[in-house]
Amino acid sequence: MKETRILFICLGNICRSPAAHGIMEEFVKRAGLSETIHIDSAGIGSWHIGKLPDSRMRAHAADRGYDLLHKARLFNPHTDFDNFDLILVMDEENYTNIIHQAHNAQERQKVRYLAEYLCHHPQYRIIPDPYYGGADHFELVLDLIEDACHGLLDTLVSAQ
Ligand code: 4NP
Repeated sequence: MKETRILFICLGNICRSPAAHGIMEEFVKRAGLSETIHIDSAGIGSWHIGKLPDSRMRAHAADRGYDLLHKARLFNPHTDFDNFDLILVMDEENYTNIIHQAHNAQERQKVRYLAEYLCHHPQYRIIPDPYYGGADHFELVLDLIEDACHGLLDTLVSAQ
């Protein structure tokens, strides 16, 4: 199988993208593909650089068996477009921000919505920001991310 490098993007890199990072890493590990599919995450805002994921997201993810240990970092347009094959964003704000940092069409083609890979939530086009929401928002985000990461892994495996 072809080596694939995936970067998940959200606004703060403390809720949605580190959750997608940890969940996809777990699915890849269970599939025995850790040597082939490489995962990272980054944010477009610099407020939380160096911090662990939001404690609410860590707690909700831990309830589902995921240990989220990524330290927030900023998206770097000078290295991340080269270093990743697929740059998966959560919402329109992320998409617009990253597309505007791309240098050419080849880089723009790497940027996709994670929600494109949803199988069981066809009504969602984005993964909504849970930061100002309650526990139900965090649970919904995890439901969506688990669904999309299953779809993403299936897509990568069947493309080979
Ligand atoms: P994330 O959530 O983009 O999923 O990490 C947010 C985290 C922090 C803020 C907004 C959204 N913030 O405004 O600090």
